[in-house]
Amino acid sequence: MIWTKEKRYRRIEEAGKDELLKLQSDVGGCEWRQTFHIQPETGLLNDPNGFSFFNGEYHLFYQWFPLGPVHGLKYWYHTKSKDLVHWENVGIGIEPSNAYDSHGAYSGSAIEHDGKLYLLYTGNTRDENWVRHPYQCLAIMDPSGRMEKLEQPVINHVPNGYTDHFRDPKVWKAGNEFYAVIGAQRENETGCVVLYRSLDMLHWEFKGELKTNLSLFGYMWECPDYLELQDKGMLIFSPQGISPDGEQFQNIYQSGYILGEPMDVSNRTLTHGSFQELDRGFDFYAPQTMLSPDGRRILIGWMGLPEMEYPTDRNGWAHCLTLPRELSIKDDKLIQKPVQELQVLRKQKYEISDVLLHETKKFNNLTGTTYEMLCEFENFDAAQFGIEFRAGDKEKTILKYDTVQKKVILDRTFSGEPVGEEYGTVRECSVDGVKIKFHLFVDISSVEIFINDGEEVFTSRIFPKTDSNEIRFFAEGGRAYFQASKWDI
Ligand code: FRU
Repeated sequence: MIWTKEKRYRRIEEAGKDELLKLQSDVGGCEWRQTFHIQPETGLLNDPNGFSFFNGEYHLFYQWFPLGPVHGLKYWYHTKSKDLVHWENVGIGIEPSNAYDSHGAYSGSAIEHDGKLYLLYTGNTRDENWVRHPYQCLAIMDPSGRMEKLEQPVINHVPNGYTDHFRDPKVWKAGNEFYAVIGAQRENETGCVVLYRSLDMLHWEFKGELKTNLSLFGYMWECPDYLELQDKGMLIFSPQGISPDGEQFQNIYQSGYILGEPMDVSNRTLTHGSFQELDRGFDFYAPQTMLSPDGRRILIGWMGLPEMEYPTDRNGWAHCLTLPRELSIKDDKLIQKPVQELQVLRKQKYEISDVLLHETKKFNNLTGTTYEMLCEFENFDAAQFGIEFRAGDKEKTILKYDTVQKKVILDRTFSGEPVGEEYGTVRECSVDGVKIKFHLFVDISSVEIFINDGEEVFTSRIFPKTDSNEIRFFAEGGRAYFQASKWDI
């Protein structure tokens, strides 16, 4: 199919029965469907939206174009869960339907208010000359799950000084007041975030731009999220237009955070340190956080990036969400750990330990395509050591530690079907320690790797053959001791 504008901006009802059946059968025949990640039934998934806890359940929506693996008319698809692990597909949450969101219900967030869930999102519209006009819209979900959209937007214009790239409201509550950050582009085509305030979620007052020391940092900041954690203030956002810099900023677009003092809302100032990437892998963008009922700050991201082709496109679907991660701060650095609820996925357990000396080793029965594995290396004098996984005759994904450069390296050069090779096939980042811990979650077409208890995370899609299921441990140029626990999922 050639994805003309007309085809991309069709509503789901406009697709014929045959087209939908063909799409479902293409998706059903895909060898890379995931088993424990949120993925679309058909079409394209992008940003997580409206991540919240309401009426005894977690709610998580995502940007969705149902009719194919391209960015078109976006809906919010609704999923919910009691445990952050098993997610139920509820159906369409918000559909684009009126003059204020005619070209897509774009990203946004949710918060409980007056016993209902308030969902604040960007209505994307285009006029007859295809010029964009964004509105900030509100939908309200009652405890029975009924969703009602307000007829009029709650923010109906872009303030002076900013372009039509003005979207992705993230709301929070401080005392009796609601605040929202919105991603924006200044008229001089640089990115920033603006701040709004409300007392009732319906009337919003423009406070102005958030002052940071990143005044020239890319051309657009998408999906901002402000949160406070352990007495610090943190702004997460996804800037576009940042050039690669050493091992940093290798992907087409970035996602990261600035951390410092809590925001001074009276003068809209954030005092902070440098911008840090949230994830070191190949496929991560537009994360969103929420506060769980027991006070944990939990983050989920989109395991994909805009403007990139993926091998599943051929089967009519694209992308998935990451697993939920719990955030904390240690020595002014963000720590991200898989939420402990994920342990319910653990099935059969295998344990091994060994000393590796200039060799690559496999172990009986230690294979798999979907599993969790925790692997600790210590007492090493090898130049490099690590793991090859989803490995077969010709394929392998390599995760290793270079003891000379003191770097963790993820290499997907031989992972299987290539993706985004123009952005390189190796990602690395500096890590130091006498022990190196790799904690992997491997699904059919992805891997999430937590390093040294969440100091760094590498999130990536991989597209190996089904029978590439070996796990190998290696040490080069010396010795390394390791112990590993693996659980089938
Ligand atoms: C980020 C993004 C958002 C926008 C949404 C549209 O991936 O571009 O800025 O709201 O996707 O799907």
